Amino acid sequence: MKILVVAGARPNFMKIKPFMNAISEFNAREISKTGRVDALLIHTGQHYDENMSEIFFRELGIRPPDVNLGVGSGSHAVQTAQIMIGFEALCDREKPDWIVVVGDVNSTMAGTLVAAKMGIRIAHIEAGLRSYDRTMPEEINRVVTDRLADLLLTPSEDADLNLLREGVPREQIKFVGNIMIDSLVENLPKARALDTLAKLRVNSLRFIYVTLHRPSNVDGQASLSALMDRLEEIAHRLPVVFPVHPRTRKMLSEYGIKHRSDSRLQLLDPIGYHDSLSLAENARLILTDSGGLQEEATYFRTPCLTLRPNTERPITITMGSNRLTKLDSFMDDVHDLINGPDRMGQVPPLWDGHAAERILQYILDAS
Ligand code: UD1
Repeated sequence: MKILVVAGARPNFMKIKPFMNAISEFNAREISKTGRVDALLIHTGQHYDENMSEIFFRELGIRPPDVNLGVGSGSHAVQTAQIMIGFEALCDREKPDWIVVVGDVNSTMAGTLVAAKMGIRIAHIEAGLRSYDRTMPEEINRVVTDRLADLLLTPSEDADLNLLREGVPREQIKFVGNIMIDSLVENLPKARALDTLAKLRVNSLRFIYVTLHRPSNVDGQASLSALMDRLEEIAHRLPVVFPVHPRTRKMLSEYGIKHRSDSRLQLLDPIGYHDSLSLAENARLILTDSGGLQEEATYFRTPCLTLRPNTERPITITMGSNRLTKLDSFMDDVHDLINGPDRMGQVPPLWDGHAAERILQYILDAS
């Protein structure tokens, strides 16, 4: 059996590594009985900076991609189309039995569109999440990908219900748990061995970890400028560590919003996976608009404020430590949480470090 595993953007890398591991372990164990699974790793090139891509390959120990389509940045149509053109030629050449796509980025949807038209089976890891907010490009990617995928591998049971409501047949939906937590569990010892906090001169439970990159927060001058003012205010209360995503960096410079990075409000370049895990585990509070960090916060039980009107990951609120917030209310929410318990919520079912094995088994069963 041949599988093409597609990854393109930063949050994809920690989701594909456990799956690649599961395949290697299967091949080492089962080869004489059932034959080999050949997996090719395809990097679309959606993210390309050293600290948005290569650092994750290095830290996670992902082997170099077999193919890099090198598409780079562009408008949604340009980026999606470039991935489709490159990926179609690749599928033509490789003739895979399955493609595996993860998450909700443009690379996920582009790979899916190509495979569906070529009659190649599609497994979607992290299927069924819905924000029901079509102003988010990721929501469009999720809906299209899930409509076309053959096997929908879900991280939480709310995702199963979303898919059932959309008419997806029960037998195509498999609740497997959260594969990103597989990577987290495996990498935690390495993260704990680093001196991240000392390097940044912050103490455990005495700082706020901030990440903000969604177009809805950073692509408008007024909101971005207000956000930066609020962060400065919060930093009087607790030091803030804010690794700045390239999109956010670009908008800050385009709008001429200048901020000095100092020991209270540290504006950093994007950081690696292990440093990020260490910050998420030790923060007093996380303030974010990232999907992945909402889940990591839930696993660590670190109080988390998500600066968005909705989340496609409601389990991080109903079970986990996450809460939605708005520009107008987040100062109050920050004070509330800082005065509350320093760890909150519970870890959801099957966020146990073994999702990848279940995923591979379901793909083999469906083959
Ligand atoms: C993408 C995903 C988003 C995910 C995020 C994580 C889509 C629609 N969005 O958003 O879901 O949360 O990745 O990081 O797929 N840039 C660089 N270097 C890079 C990559 C990007 O400088 O390596 C800059 C470019 O100016 C680019 C901008 O960031 O135009 C945005 O990149 P893009 O991949 O379009 O979207 P993200 O905001 O990164």
